[in-house]
Amino acid sequence: MKVVLGVSAGIAAYKACELLRLFTESGHDVRVVPTRESLHFVGEATWAALSGNPVTTDVWQSVHEVPHVRIGKGADLVIVAPATADVLAKAAHGLAGDLLTNTLLTARCPVVFAPAMHTEMWEHPATRANVATLREHGAIVIDPAVGRLTGADTGPGRLPDPSEIFEVCLRVAAGRPRDLAGRSVVISAGGTREALDPVRFLGNRSSGLQGYALARTAVARGAEVTLVAANVSLPDPAGARVIRVESALEMREAVLKESAQADAVVMAAAVADFRPATRYDSKIKKTSDEPEPLHLVKNPDILAELGERRREAGPYPLVIAGFAAETDDVLANGRAKLERKGCDLLVVNQVGEHLAFGTPDNAATILVRGGDPVDVPRGPKEDVADAIWDQVAAHLH
Ligand code: CTP
Repeated sequence: MKVVLGVSAGIAAYKACELLRLFTESGHDVRVVPTRESLHFVGEATWAALSGNPVTTDVWQSVHEVPHVRIGKGADLVIVAPATADVLAKAAHGLAGDLLTNTLLTARCPVVFAPAMHTEMWEHPATRANVATLREHGAIVIDPAVGRLTGADTGPGRLPDPSEIFEVCLRVAAGRPRDLAGRSVVISAGGTREALDPVRFLGNRSSGLQGYALARTAVARGAEVTLVAANVSLPDPAGARVIRVESALEMREAVLKESAQADAVVMAAAVADFRPATRYDSKIKKTSDEPEPLHLVKNPDILAELGERRREAGPYPLVIAGFAAETDDVLANGRAKLERKGCDLLVVNQVGEHLAFGTPDNAATILVRGGDPVDVPRGPKEDVADAIWDQVAAHLH
């Protein structure tokens, strides 16, 4: 596809070099359109060499080719990374003083902005209003990551990992609907760890891949995403707010708090059903050759509690989706679980020889309360995620 990579004047411009490479190495034709000021950070020669295409910043170069119209109209995707407060403001108001802003006005393809700036600038009411306007105009604006900024300060404002921006771009370019725009979703991911003592825990093999794919695809569909991640060692999905937890009790607290204001919650995490009755403050020593018996107590069922809360609250717009792993009688067991836990959707993985854990692929049947089951054939976890969002979106509308 033909990609326009707009680069504005933020220090994170150097990370856009990696984003550019991800596009070119997967065969896409990228035209880099930097703002004049951004060339202080990364020069024209770098963009030309990495993209293999000419680089222009203003509308007065190669005028006979009418670049201010041609580049935007010919694009399949425009991604602006990093997007400064300045470029967001110009784009929101339709200013067109240089080649990038002209391109943004002429493009009719999906447009993605990946802002990066200091926290104060990102949180300023002017920037918030500009971001809201751009989203209303149909653009995907990826919320910046939280972390260390250029100076000693820390906060929201970092450009997300380029590979994660790339993933969002591919999903957006694939033409997924923006049907979660203005919606807030909470996703749990990973597997909880239940501590025995300061060094040992009971855990499970969940990698978090399915939950992270849900986060990525929801961002690409325009949602505001909160990801409650238990013990996942994957890069943060671009645009998602990540809350890290360890145990089922911590996950319960985070999920209940975050879902209070949300439109949908998807419990993709593998939550331990039991935890050790005692968590020792010091390491358990081998006092004899006989192991001590391990006493377990039940963890709260977060999914069931969400369903219970919704029932008690009366008419309540939250859409609730859970996951289940079944080996046999998949549909009957799944149906019973959907009812028992009071959810709207239950994503059932048939497990057995092909375990869903840790693999990039998955297959599932989505059970729908009051509707027919939806079979999702084996494919990337992103495809399963999109099929889940299709159902969530249908419930929301
Ligand atoms: N879940 C939860 N809280 C728990 C346990 C599970 O919220 N304490 C959620 C999971 O996130 C998942 C679903 O419930 O969405 C899985 O339900 P579970 O009853 O654990 O089903 P299975 O893992 O399939 O196990 P079993 O059939 O043994 O109940």
